[in-house]
Amino acid sequence: MVEHIAVLAKALTEQISLPPDAVMVDATIGQGGHSFLFGQTLGPEGVIFGLDVDKNSIRRAQLRLKDLACRIILLRSNFSQIGEQVHKQGIEEIDFILADLGLCSAQLADTRMGLSFLQDMPLDMRIDRRLKTTAADIVNEADEKSLADLIYRFGEDRASRRIARFIVRHRSGEPITTTGQLAAIVCRALGQPGQRRKRRIHPATRTFQALRIAVNNELENLGRLLTSATELLGKNGHIAVISYHSLEDRLVKNNFKQNEKEGIYRIITKKPITATREEISENRRARSAKLRIAQKR
Ligand SMILES: C[S@@+](CC[C@H](N)C(=O)[O-])C[C@H]1O[C@@H](n2cnc3c(N)ncnc32)[C@H](O)[C@@H]1O
Repeated sequence: MVEHIAVLAKALTEQISLPPDAVMVDATIGQGGHSFLFGQTLGPEGVIFGLDVDKNSIRRAQLRLKDLACRIILLRSNFSQIGEQVHKQGIEEIDFILADLGLCSAQLADTRMGLSFLQDMPLDMRIDRRLKTTAADIVNEADEKSLADLIYRFGEDRASRRIARFIVRHRSGEPITTTGQLAAIVCRALGQPGQRRKRRIHPATRTFQALRIAVNNELENLGRLLTSATELLGKNGHIAVISYHSLEDRLVKNNFKQNEKEGIYRIITKKPITATREEISENRRARSAKLRIAQKR
């Protein structure tokens, strides 16, 4: 199994300490890395309620957390439904909500998930296998303008029209079914790195991000989580969100600012916390991570 290293774990545990009877909701339990760290400080009265849309993540977290003293409840659910799930468990107030967005290393490496352009995999991208629409459905069925808009809006790629044109041209010959095919089409649309413009990231990064956001409805789900959190947190409770791209981070930043203006939150991180050079050298996933924390008044 690919090991997932919990990102910004030190920074997070330095900022937030929980009393032994705290109730923590880990909205993205993943492999339970962060929850394990916080769980070690909880006693038998404490609770960790973990959510994840991926049943393999739930299974991995179960193994990781099984020896903790606190109560562990794990549920396969989208965090957009955090409100109803918390109420169903009879939890009244939460001390800490954590969302470590994005993907675990194991998911990126999982060929069935079809998320990576570094290996050739079926073009799928559904983190929740219960969803119906795959990335292949979108690239083969959406009209050219919708595709360009999607790549622009969710990938912020200024070459979106050109990429969409190349995708539509390619699929008129044969359907696009693998991540390798799509990555090659995007590279052709943009020219190889260094030819058209200098790129520090793989040319297909933004297109892949756009499709993943669309397939998994990521921004809308995050918006729902942020809205619910204000009601679910108890007085002085914390919310911490680790995001990995600017669209997510902007949503979090604006939500915290608005709630601070309305006297609901106090922002703890005036600027987002990012990983040290040392952490990045041990864990490349940390390079784009931004941690923001707010406290309920
Ligand atoms: C970066 S990993 C979390 C890693 C975890 N913090 C750890 O230390 O092991 C993100 C997890 O969130 C899950 N996820 C993504 N979107 C979700 C959503 N809308 N609702 C619930 N879980 C989600 C993914 O399946 C993945 O397991």
